[in-house]
Amino acid sequence: MSLTLDGLSVRVGDRLLLKNLSLSVAPNEVVALIGSSGSGKSLTAAAITGSLPGSARATGHLEIQGQDVPLATRFRPGLAVVRQDSLTALHPLVRIGRQLVPVLLRSGAATTRAAAMSLAASTLGDVGFADPLRVLQSFPMELSGGQRQRVCIVQALACRASFLVADEPTTALDVVSRQLVLSALRKAADAGAGILLITHDVAAAASLCSRAVVIDDGTVVDQGSFAHLAGSTAHPHACALMGSAGDAAARGSIAAV
Ligand SMILES: Nc1ncnc2c1ncn2[C@@H]1O[C@H](COP(=O)(O)OP(=O)(O)OP(=O)(O)O)[C@@H](O)[C@H]1O
Ligand SMILES: [Mg+2]
Repeated sequence: MSLTLDGLSVRVGDRLLLKNLSLSVAPNEVVALIGSSGSGKSLTAAAITGSLPGSARATGHLEIQGQDVPLATRFRPGLAVVRQDSLTALHPLVRIGRQLVPVLLRSGAATTRAAAMSLAASTLGDVGFADPLRVLQSFPMELSGGQRQRVCIVQALACRASFLVADEPTTALDVVSRQLVLSALRKAADAGAGILLITHDVAAAASLCSRAVVIDDGTVVDQGSFAHLAGSTAHPHACALMGSAGDAAARGSIAAV
């Protein structure tokens, strides 16, 4: 049972920002949503995750695992999100451990507080923290932007949701941390999650995703495998984005993460 968005249009004031946009993500699948800055990626994520601004008017149809989900509501069963702005995703006055532990207990990933702390520490280790116990004791402001971003990814993965929308999860990261985060996402997909990966990093997308949806000015202009998007039949905008990923993406053959 997939996550399916059909005919999404979003208007804010007199601006039509998303136009008849459709996409779907199946379980076990990682789909990239790519496009230039301001093309509408985060707004699409907001519609899917129930966090559109109050001033937005959305029409279209969202279905998650066979359930109709009204776009105007905030509740999204079975869906986790990594937001582009990691600072707003964490409570500034609560230590990281006290934020992660309830999520792990709620999702059933751990049954006791001690087990949840230990799982949180090992998962932080998976995304490159050499000192997870210190991180668990820290307040968000005591971490760097890239460290907070990785904490948000751990928090989202800890939900064990059926679907994950990750908006630029690797932007603030060095190459080693980036690779670890991509591996963690791959692991989640292999365990059954469907992931919509929003990114400017086309090489990362090509390494992780089976296909991509390309948007420009709020409209889907092309979609398909990376080999298709880099080929001669692709939309010029898709070709331009693929060009930024270099030869490996153009061959559609970046090594698996
Ligand atoms: N809350 C809002 N109110 C009004 N307009 C908005 C709002 N959020 C986004 N927009 C507009 O919608 C368009 C798409 O924005 P969006 O944040 O989805 O871009 P994006 O593709 O995620 O870009 P980036 O790659 O820079 O993150 C932009 O023109 C932006 O100005
Ligand atoms: Mg964005």
